[in-house]
Amino acid sequence: MLFPAYLMNAQERNSKEQKIAESNSIDRIKMNQFVDNLISRMTLEEKVGQMNQIPGFFAITSPVKPDSELINGIKKGQVGSMLNVIGAEPTMQLQKIAVNESRLKIPLIFGYDIIHGCKTIFPIPLGESASWDLDAIKKSARVAADEASAMGVDWTFAPMVDIARDARWGRIAEGAGEDPYYGSLVAKARVEGFQGDDFTAGNTIVACAKHYAAYGAAIGGRDYNSADMSERTLREIYLPPFHAAVTAGVGTLMTAFCSLNGLPATANDFLIRQILKGEWKFDGFIISDAGSVGELIQHGVAANQYEAAGLAANAQCDMDMGSLSYQKELVNLVKNGIVSEEIINDAVKRILKIKYRLGLFQNPYKYCKIEREKSEILTQEHLSAARDIARKSIVLLKNTNNLLPLKRNIGKIAVIGPLADAPQDMLGCWSAIGSPENVTTILQGIKKAVANQSEIFYSKGCEINSNEPENFDEAVKTAEKSDVVLLVVGEAGGMTGEAHSRTNLDIPGNQLDLIKAVKNTGKPVVVMLSNGRPLSLKWIANNVPAIIETWFLGTEAGNAIADVVFGDYNPSGKLTVSFPYTVGQEPLYYSQLPTGRPLQNDENDVWKTHYIDSPNDALFPFGFGLSYTSFEYSNLRLNRQKISKNDTLKIFVDVKNIGNREGEEVSQLYIHDLVAGASRPARELKGFKKISLKQGQKATIVFSLINDDLKYYDNKLKWMSNPGVYDIYVGGNSKDVIKTSFVLE
Ligand code: NOJ
Repeated sequence: MLFPAYLMNAQERNSKEQKIAESNSIDRIKMNQFVDNLISRMTLEEKVGQMNQIPGFFAITSPVKPDSELINGIKKGQVGSMLNVIGAEPTMQLQKIAVNESRLKIPLIFGYDIIHGCKTIFPIPLGESASWDLDAIKKSARVAADEASAMGVDWTFAPMVDIARDARWGRIAEGAGEDPYYGSLVAKARVEGFQGDDFTAGNTIVACAKHYAAYGAAIGGRDYNSADMSERTLREIYLPPFHAAVTAGVGTLMTAFCSLNGLPATANDFLIRQILKGEWKFDGFIISDAGSVGELIQHGVAANQYEAAGLAANAQCDMDMGSLSYQKELVNLVKNGIVSEEIINDAVKRILKIKYRLGLFQNPYKYCKIEREKSEILTQEHLSAARDIARKSIVLLKNTNNLLPLKRNIGKIAVIGPLADAPQDMLGCWSAIGSPENVTTILQGIKKAVANQSEIFYSKGCEINSNEPENFDEAVKTAEKSDVVLLVVGEAGGMTGEAHSRTNLDIPGNQLDLIKAVKNTGKPVVVMLSNGRPLSLKWIANNVPAIIETWFLGTEAGNAIADVVFGDYNPSGKLTVSFPYTVGQEPLYYSQLPTGRPLQNDENDVWKTHYIDSPNDALFPFGFGLSYTSFEYSNLRLNRQKISKNDTLKIFVDVKNIGNREGEEVSQLYIHDLVAGASRPARELKGFKKISLKQGQKATIVFSLINDDLKYYDNKLKWMSNPGVYDIYVGGNSKDVIKTSFVLE
């Protein structure tokens, strides 16, 4: 089967195969002829030029003044691509130089980090993944592509599809969390959103699945650190989202900064040549991460740039992002017989094919349309899409005695905390050209929502991350004169993202003391968290009646949060990453392998897998999230108790809305293969359905599993399933589930 079953249903698969078949018979032949012909006319220097990406250092809106060295490089055909140039005008100026003044007139391709929106900023990807709404996630990428393509950008360095299980790692904010099954579906949705069905449409851009591979497994959660893992873990956990991106037709991939099992990803023959281009038959191109070809020297696998370029090129890393090692050394490496010209030709062909597919040879200026740039950015449609997914991303973690939603006319509302009126922070990390002036802050959103129905009092309370003693008098007074407190705390927008690892997952600075001081007033408190990673929330969870996880929700943050606070939207988000009691539990994830000493409920039996000072489990587990209503699961049943390898197992479960308002629920299906050649996770996500139920309404949800869904890498790394008993769990999170089992014959 070309595409894994869980990624595409039969109908989608047929239409995708059809599209590929069509492009094979019509476009591909023409494209290959065009590209081959072009390559046959290129000098070795010009070929190497295509493999070279140069950063641009331009103010976003001001006219470009590229330095003469760069201009000369483009004229000589030494530059195939640029990054960090955005704007119809600047990209047009540079493109004109490439197209009018270089010998072969090959257009440049412009890459930019369009991670969660371009100008209209959407929730950070980790937040967005908590929506479990693949259509909305796809739409967010679609809008981002629309805006980026109106501003000269035809290639995004997204999606980041790294599985991340260590909350210390700052880049956990950029991905879809800890689970490979869900991460694969999100990878597919994001790729499809950016790229659309048609590369040549003009409002689609090429996606780049990154960082290939295992970057999220940085030891100790420290960014750029090495990763070390078994091939089974690599193939079962870290590679599936990349494979999903490839099967969804992603045009490019980016290597990771890290080394994997001692070999840096940028020169990793096994990852790039064997798996990506060999096993998966990826036909796009792969770019290094910024400077990572040159960093092979610091990794200690190359003595100098010459060796670094040779290693990366021979591993078939097609484009060098910014280290200039290819530009300086590749021609000599070919002349000296270290790198073959076939490798160069293959890389150049891949790069030119992407340019061809974008239609750049027909119209190099198609993404540089000043009118589009003026009219298609921050439109009402884009803002509505951003608000829609922002509210879907919010996760209600606690709501004692239905403190939420608040009535608009409750009386007096205190909005307290350093993140309450923090427009820049709402944008989170990697926020492209999003700007704080366009953000509705939480305070603004709340004020707008209540209009004149309640009085709002605001106090910043403290700084986000201060080590100095602070006094909370003003915040306490503000709370005292109010009926309810919305306490907005968390991390600064820049505390997650690249190079922002932490060794501590507490709410930073003095904020916990602020929470304690405000709580001591006796007023009902809702803690609203803005953060880019799981935090350890033990004290808050034990002491505060209501908690909402709001991540960094982007341009529409305040409006979306107000929608949830006042009940215009009933929260439906569920965590895609486990929240620990304490940092010492990291890396923490739900799909742990069993041990020989499972923990039982016997406190006297210490010889079991456990900590002496913390539970094993998460404080808030994967898949967890509350609603203003509640759901009851019952009657878990199967179409048969035994299946053969050709059968489809159908799993039915009744879900009833037992609360008093309409709501959405994400029902999750997990399996456990009880006896296998290698230990299997105690729970593995294999399906989910998001449904909406009216008050009192009951629905039967149907999941299905086929033999492919049960496969894993056995002891000899053979992809196979095991005959025997499987437990099935279904529920509203990875912990609170009901159970049945079946036998695979
Ligand atoms: C380094 C980051 O690791 C990568 O994710 C990003 O796309 C590039 N820089 C380009 O900005």
